[in-house]
Amino acid sequence: MDRIKITGGGPLEGVIPISGAKNAALPLMIASLLTRDTLTLSNMPLLADVTQLERILGNHGVDFAISGKRSGQSENAGRTVHFTARDIVDTTAPYDLVSRMRASFWVLAPLVARAGEARVSLPGGCAIGTRPVDLLLMAMEQLGTKIEIENGYVVASAKNGLIGGEIDFPKVTVGGTHTALMAAVLARGETVIKNAAREPEITDLANCLNKMGAKISGAGESTIVVKGVGSLHGAHHSVLPDRIETGTYAMAVAMTGGDVLLAGARAADLQAALDVLEQSGTKITSTPEGLRVKRNGGGIQPVDIETAPFPAFPTDLQAQFMALMTRANGVSRITETIFENRFMHVQELARLGAHIKLEGDTAIITGAEHLDGAPVMATDLRASVSLVIAGLVARGETTINRVYHLDRGFERLESKLRACGAQIERISGHA
Ligand code: EPZ
Repeated sequence: MDRIKITGGGPLEGVIPISGAKNAALPLMIASLLTRDTLTLSNMPLLADVTQLERILGNHGVDFAISGKRSGQSENAGRTVHFTARDIVDTTAPYDLVSRMRASFWVLAPLVARAGEARVSLPGGCAIGTRPVDLLLMAMEQLGTKIEIENGYVVASAKNGLIGGEIDFPKVTVGGTHTALMAAVLARGETVIKNAAREPEITDLANCLNKMGAKISGAGESTIVVKGVGSLHGAHHSVLPDRIETGTYAMAVAMTGGDVLLAGARAADLQAALDVLEQSGTKITSTPEGLRVKRNGGGIQPVDIETAPFPAFPTDLQAQFMALMTRANGVSRITETIFENRFMHVQELARLGAHIKLEGDTAIITGAEHLDGAPVMATDLRASVSLVIAGLVARGETTINRVYHLDRGFERLESKLRACGAQIERISGHA
């Protein structure tokens, strides 16, 4: 199993290119199930989760072809991948595939919309909380799907097609909103989605579906209206830049000090997090090339935050911000309101010398003058990268085990950080 070794040191200086967003790429790939034609996605990140989803979609009958490199293209250019679901050959998403990646459960909606049926394994437990799918199933039922649970599988059918209706989410859910959109686009009549998630990845999916011939209005707002159409056609769509990768590297620069351009990043997709970083003493400037992040001299100021759905501070940046606060000049409080068990990084940060106390859904962090390198491991993607941020300033050597978590969501993490002066390397195998 690979490990990452970091020797804590100086500031980060240079340019980090931001990749296409994992959490947009996954639903966009799934949307290819909605049409017989080819959906071409450019700016695709090369990540373990993307490769795994390609395997899952292949099982349903999706062919995919990857465009080769073009002249003058830099190594940082995202891939272009063509997805074609000419026929749906299998409407079952088996346990061994779905259990490895929760987002693959989202194939449920397009399979029912296109083929009238689906049999999808329940995703099961997850390191960051119970993460139920009741609201996704509610959305499908509201549009006329019959749902039964059999032997750990959701068996869904709408033999005569889906019918538009009202879906009123009692809680904001990203996956629920993706599901509602992908079901409603091919339903007969109009669907109104209330209390919809407003994340940029929802807007990106809706934009792509509209290019495919869907009639969606209001994406990015709390109420989305979808007028169903008979069929969708092929399209070309570029995946939006990854706001979580952007925020992660911005926090890394805030931690080490220095001056880095996050090329291609868009401030509006993570304004709440950028505001918090500014309060902590980091200067952020929006430029035509991306976001410039700078912290020189002054220390890190403590800031209290609470995670909440977009446009508030994202749960996917909570662990990284906690890493930053471990070196703040004082006490900060971080409250996690989205997932009940998303504090696994606390114990590992403590191994590096951080002072963190947990009180229910709140972590109280007392900034320490130093962190000290140690072997650590983490059980999810964002927790793992929070340890990288801490390792960048810890005295001596930090070794991060279970690197496969990082590979699920961060493209070429070591080379991007190394290019800005970090001492970070991957060690293959058990050596
Ligand atoms: C998406 O997960 C993201 N995953 C997560 O990113 C992200 O943390 C999360 O949204 C919140 O922003 C992808 O986009 C692939 P939710 P999702 O449905 O859709 C509860 C990462 O690190 N809920 O918005 O699964 C749920 O338990 C990942 O990249 C129900 O109660 O999240 C949670 O408390 C991790 N019933 C809240 O809603 C349901 O049926 C929000 O979850 C569905 C959700």
